Amino acid sequence: MKEQIAKIKAEALAAFEGTQAAADLDALRVKYLGKKGELTGLLKQMGSLSAEERPQMGQLVNEVKASLEAAIEAQGKKLEAAALEHRLKREAVDVTIPGNTPALGHKHPMYLALDEIKDIFIGMGFTVLDGPEIELAELNFDRLNAEEGHPSRDWSDTFYFDEDSRVMLRSQTSPMQVRAMDTMELPIRIIAPGRVYRKDEVDATHSPMFHQVEGMVIDKNVTMADLKGTLNTLAEQLFGKGTVTRFRPHHFPFTEPSCEMDVQCHKCGGVGCPTCKGEGWIEILGAGMIHPRVLEMAGIDPEKWSGWAFGMGLERTAMGRFKISDLRLIFENDVRFLEQF
Ligand code: PHE
Repeated sequence: MKEQIAKIKAEALAAFEGTQAAADLDALRVKYLGKKGELTGLLKQMGSLSAEERPQMGQLVNEVKASLEAAIEAQGKKLEAAALEHRLKREAVDVTIPGNTPALGHKHPMYLALDEIKDIFIGMGFTVLDGPEIELAELNFDRLNAEEGHPSRDWSDTFYFDEDSRVMLRSQTSPMQVRAMDTMELPIRIIAPGRVYRKDEVDATHSPMFHQVEGMVIDKNVTMADLKGTLNTLAEQLFGKGTVTRFRPHHFPFTEPSCEMDVQCHKCGGVGCPTCKGEGWIEILGAGMIHPRVLEMAGIDPEKWSGWAFGMGLERTAMGRFKISDLRLIFENDVRFLEQF
């Protein structure tokens, strides 16, 4: 019987040590120490022993039972520790793996150019104004000296909201001149960027919606020299030192004299290419000295005050700033194009 006990002990200990999971260990506990277990089975056979042998064997069985229980507990702890380690390993975060970078958008090149324009004018003491795209024809035309019968008021040029042609999508940012005159204290230095609308078909140089930046100064003794100086400063800061500009006489109802400013073509340097349509120059703005009638209509005495204004095409300016060759790229929103800025 002694040998039997020793054999069971050795077998059990080896089996315990070989377990990989708590459930297996539990099954072995039942197998060796349970009610119908092998060791319990031996205790039941004690009846066949002699009176001297019985207590000896009983003690031996109890010792073995105790040592098996201890072994089970030790193995249980080992399995628990191993399971924990396994879980920690599985759930570990490898901080050295490169993350998934979310696709981030960024500013459109035209708005990048606008930010630069704003900075340049803010640096010269101008205030930036925002105004309505749905405008009164009175401010878009009448107050700008383009009265009834002026060709720019034509239904084929302008988006009106009503039969009476009183409310419209502004065709220029110039009504912001009037709004500034009506609401601000003199002297005034403002720019007013925004969308404008005209009934144009889309092509390489036209779109029914585009952007302008209006600019206006009203002060004492303001002259055309101030206008040219300011716009040349703008051109140099925006397009780089030594940028060549030219001023051509033009006509606008609300300025007198009026001009247009061209910047030498950024693509060909003035030789002539498709971007400048062979001209060597790109027109970027209209400007002039504010017409005395416009000042008068705003209650400003043209004998005391004078001013100048300009209206700049933002798309064209952005094209010059970033050397973009086709207007349509500005509106198509192809990310392969936009990503370059
Ligand atoms: N509003 C004019 C246009 O859209 C531009 C302009 C603005 C001209 C201010 C003179 C003064 O063409």
